Amino acid sequence: MSSETFAPEADARLRAEAAEIISRYPEPRSALLPMLHLVQSEDGFVSPRGIALCADILGLTRAEVSAVATFYTQYKRHPNGDYTVGVCTNALCAVMGGDIIFERVSEHLGIGHDETTADGKITLEQVECNAACDYAPVVMVNWEFFDNQTPTSAIELVDQITAGEPVRPTRGADTVATFKEISHVLAGFEDGRANEGVGAGESTLLGLRIARENNWRAPQVRDDSQGHGQAAAGGPATTTPGVDLAGSTASGTVPVGEVQSSAERKPTTEADVSAETVDKDVKKEAQ
Ligand code: FES
Repeated sequence: MSSETFAPEADARLRAEAAEIISRYPEPRSALLPMLHLVQSEDGFVSPRGIALCADILGLTRAEVSAVATFYTQYKRHPNGDYTVGVCTNALCAVMGGDIIFERVSEHLGIGHDETTADGKITLEQVECNAACDYAPVVMVNWEFFDNQTPTSAIELVDQITAGEPVRPTRGADTVATFKEISHVLAGFEDGRANEGVGAGESTLLGLRIARENNWRAPQVRDDSQGHGQAAAGGPATTTPGVDLAGSTASGTVPVGEVQSSAERKPTTEADVSAETVDKDVKKEAQ
């Protein structure tokens, strides 16, 4: 891994896969991001020889490749563990216990942020919001969700990983792939596990269900480019249709979770907004 170049077999394989990645883009250099994941799938980090390979294939300087690799935190500049355990310590998870989870796990493993255990199994990270706030506090293992964690459950999780036992995400995938395996997927090569499970869970869908039960609609948005003053003065008011949280349309109600075909969907233009609705808005503004 420390040698300057890849062995001939690995070099040939990586170049063939890089060619496949490049063929997906109009410009070869646009393929750099997935190619860096490809390098990580081989070396477990963006290695010097991986940087050299990308530069050679894409006609870039090593400095240019490094400049990109150092910009994104998903690209590792030193060997990563088999499993990245990311504890979300962004605002909501932090107040729900994310900070204390990170502290306890860090203490338990004897490593800090962006450090790897001596056995090479776990790299610990403090991560930013993973858009899973409804399951706070969240821990990610190689970007799979472990929801509603506690310090105890998170420590059990890392103990299982250390012991080489399989861990099962709360939702989505059935298992957690290794860092190298998931890097290969991020490089654009599917592993056939895309449909292992549904990503949305009960908490995510709860709001939509309540909106449907109550027939709630989002407030209509006034187009400021036409000026509030005009509307307040009784001038021509312009509105855009409100977003219907309950899924109802001019053609009827669509149960939340179901998708209308484009043929069924009525156009949602200003013409859909009734004169009565506009009139009410204008009166409200004038008060
Ligand atoms: S703050 Fe942790 S997932 Fe959003």
